Amino acid sequence: MDRGSDRAEALHSPAPPNGTNAPRARLQTDAASRSLNGTWRFRLHPGIRQAPDDGWQAGRRLDGFGELPVPSSWVMHGHGSPAYTNIQYPFAVEPPHAPDANPIGDHVLEFDVGPEFLPSAVLRFDGIDSAATVWLNGIRLGTTRGSRLSHEFDASHALTQGRNVLAVRVAQFSAASYLEDQDMWWLPGIFRDVTLLARPVDGIDDVFVHADFDHRTSVGVLRIEATRDGESIEAEISVPELGLVTVSGTEHRIPEVHGWSAESPRLYEATISTPSETVTVQLGFRTVVVEDGRFLVNGRGILLRGVNRHEHHPELGRIVPRDRLEAELRLMKQHNINAVRTSHYPPHPDFLDLADRLGFYVVLECDLETHGFEHQAWQRNPADEPAWHDALVDRMRRTVERDKNHPSVIMWSLGNESGTGENLAAMSRWAKQRDPSRPIHYEGDQTCAYADVYSRMYADHHETELIGRCQEEPLADAELDAQRRRMPFVLCEYGHAMGNGPGGLSEYQSLFETYPRLMGGFVWEWIEHGISATDASGANHFRYGGDFGEEIHDGNFVADGLVDANLGPRPGLIDFKKVIEPIRITVNAGCADVRNAFDFADTSNVVFEYTVAADGVVEAHGVLTVPSLAPGEEVRVQLPDDASRGSSRPAIVTVSARLATATPWAEAGHEIAWGQFVATPPTPPRPRATAVVVTDAAVARLGPAAFDRTTGSLIDLDGLRISSFRANFWRAPIDNDFGVADFIVGGVPVERQWTDTGLDRLHPRLIEMVAVPDSDGGEVLTVRMRYAAADQANGISVDFVWSSDGETLALETKVRPEGGWEVPWARIGLELVIDGEAQTVAWRGRGPGQAYPDTGQGAKFGWYEAAPVDLHVDYVRPQESGARADVTRLALGFEGAQLAIEGDPFAMTVRSFSQATLAAASHESDLTADGRTHLSLDARQHGVGTAACGPGVLDAYVLSPRESSFTHVFRVRAR
Ligand code: GAL
Repeated sequence: MDRGSDRAEALHSPAPPNGTNAPRARLQTDAASRSLNGTWRFRLHPGIRQAPDDGWQAGRRLDGFGELPVPSSWVMHGHGSPAYTNIQYPFAVEPPHAPDANPIGDHVLEFDVGPEFLPSAVLRFDGIDSAATVWLNGIRLGTTRGSRLSHEFDASHALTQGRNVLAVRVAQFSAASYLEDQDMWWLPGIFRDVTLLARPVDGIDDVFVHADFDHRTSVGVLRIEATRDGESIEAEISVPELGLVTVSGTEHRIPEVHGWSAESPRLYEATISTPSETVTVQLGFRTVVVEDGRFLVNGRGILLRGVNRHEHHPELGRIVPRDRLEAELRLMKQHNINAVRTSHYPPHPDFLDLADRLGFYVVLECDLETHGFEHQAWQRNPADEPAWHDALVDRMRRTVERDKNHPSVIMWSLGNESGTGENLAAMSRWAKQRDPSRPIHYEGDQTCAYADVYSRMYADHHETELIGRCQEEPLADAELDAQRRRMPFVLCEYGHAMGNGPGGLSEYQSLFETYPRLMGGFVWEWIEHGISATDASGANHFRYGGDFGEEIHDGNFVADGLVDANLGPRPGLIDFKKVIEPIRITVNAGCADVRNAFDFADTSNVVFEYTVAADGVVEAHGVLTVPSLAPGEEVRVQLPDDASRGSSRPAIVTVSARLATATPWAEAGHEIAWGQFVATPPTPPRPRATAVVVTDAAVARLGPAAFDRTTGSLIDLDGLRISSFRANFWRAPIDNDFGVADFIVGGVPVERQWTDTGLDRLHPRLIEMVAVPDSDGGEVLTVRMRYAAADQANGISVDFVWSSDGETLALETKVRPEGGWEVPWARIGLELVIDGEAQTVAWRGRGPGQAYPDTGQGAKFGWYEAAPVDLHVDYVRPQESGARADVTRLALGFEGAQLAIEGDPFAMTVRSFSQATLAAASHESDLTADGRTHLSLDARQHGVGTAACGPGVLDAYVLSPRESSFTHVFRVRAR
């Protein structure tokens, strides 16, 4: 066997890493440390057999090497490309073999060290994707397995004072890749920090903090263990703020400590010292228990308002710089998010420090997913094969040991979508014996044989409610069933935020708030994994699966977040913030009901403000006197006279809950929650129908309008050229339209239902145009049309009934389905294509963001103005977006003219390209303005749901074909 095969052999082993130190907590220490991040030397080989052992490990023969930053993923720096798959493995499923086509990155760093690192030091790697061998000065230290797990190597025997050569050979794939089949980009490289740490001879290797909280007495129970080489040692403990000085290993009951919670993340600094080393930890006193089917923190049931978070950066890959990480977490807090599941691996260690400090409940997940074995009917799944036992337990151990001292971690998760098996059970057993203080989470085993909470992903509302009532389908095994029925329930994934959506969040939230067994959940997911690209015009857009020539891929399924890859909030985030707001405000005429929905915090840091506005003008504004409310407490407050007197015009009363003083995550004045009382304006009166129809051979005129007599279409409105006017029942499909609701086997996506029935290609046929005298003295012009598709008998009859007083133009539209339509329609409305680009849009309705029937909870009633281009939402795959809902008045500003439209509340969408262009586009860069204004006025729309992954549109939001009639009044004014 040649050396190349030898090396290849190591990559085919299911064994855990070798040569590493025992995993331990990441401690803040006064011992010397040195970051080895920076510019390294780098070369890439196509496979392990092509990777020579030519002395490079000792720093010789580096002539073929270039440079690469560390941390980095080499594919983000021009060496190969990222590749995206969800469930599928991008290589043959022949465990434990890695493919031959296996990029190998050789990394070398020369660095100097001083005497402070001698005689004893360790090298720490916080993350190498996916399998590395490490040499120091040509001496092999060992291997890493577990991309998102820390590995430390004893460097003492190899390190020299002065110049050293660190060499790391990283294989993109290894046997361990079978354990890392998460739904994300494959991004090889040394992507987290590399650090050299001096180890004082009588130092502290590890610390395990046990800081419980007795909620009945507010007594904190503290015991801190310190170890060296796996043995307990005596160290001095000091917690100055608590006046505590003691020794490790002893238990102390401390009266009157503040408990830690996500709402009140109180930390105490403790130092642990031996004569040669002092480490610092942040203590948070809190106790987590599962009791009577409830998940309790410090004695109270908590509600998780959570998100699943992957690490992603659009230029760097899975490297998230510290300032960016902080920005992410602050943004979450600003949107009322209080929990994070670290899907599906331990995050960068800094994340936990911030989570402790800012206040998040963290479900910390092990780096494990073997989802691709589902395609093999779970045959040979590593989760159940003895050969993989040690590797899986090693992963759990690294996960728990690194982060065990963080109060934010409330559960350990064994991993994601790895089927079931004895090795998972072993991971659970190991974690429980090491850390009995935290429950175990694992969604993949529905019997919950080795989990402490019942977890599901994408369970629909009905099933979630049954579980809330404890009426779920029983398990075959009565004992396991009884055990599961005593567990609280978490939706570890729900509200799939792909493209336009997610719909149905409010309905989930009301279930969570109704049934104590339901502990809330985690929206899938926080951030989209788009990769930055610049198009020919210099504009930025995001790339997704398939954009890098991958042989197999899963398209834009990688982009399903509440924020885009640049942390720009998607409409879904604005809605989620409103849905989960921890203060509930219901405004009625003259009063407001305020309820504190926090679990721990009172409202003493909240100020309540009211605003009364009409026609966009604030008529009254002030502060409401609301007593500080304890969690769960509710109060009714009278609105001051100026707020309740009302207005002569239809007014909107808004009550906002704002931060009274700044917090680490938001400024004073930041809005947490709001409620509104809205006086709906009356339907605009139809103008008197005094104008009469005047015709010539080609055109019929009525007041300011002209109609083509051959098509029946409106073609001119007081000088505005209308190049197309029609009824519209379709939309450029959103990602959810392509999905199968609730994963129904054999189910047909609604997008297919539309193309099958021709809803996307309806053609109008003019039946008649008749002018009929009206009692106002003028005439009413009725244009009767039928819309139908080729090869289809079903159709839709539409009557457009026009009238005018000479200046304004009124339209009543009457829609009637004909035949047996059995598919929902996307919308019922009008589409006008107006020559010329509108420059401004102003409206009275909901905004500033979009709203669809089952979304838009975050859109407030008000008066808004925007540039049309800002109404569109730039989802990574272009799709229907941007509707503003409940509009009763709209003004479009054109060069020289303004088009005003009033009507029954309608949804308004303005675009600079057609629906067909939108539907055909695969990236934002495909959308080019055509110089016209495409205006949709919809009386109704179909909901959006979450069928891309989960339940479809709930019944209440399904737009079943129906008769419908609605009114608009148009008027053009010179500007
Ligand atoms: C889940 C999985 C996630 C993600 C999601 C769909 O099944 O756990 O990783 O793939 O579906 O976006």
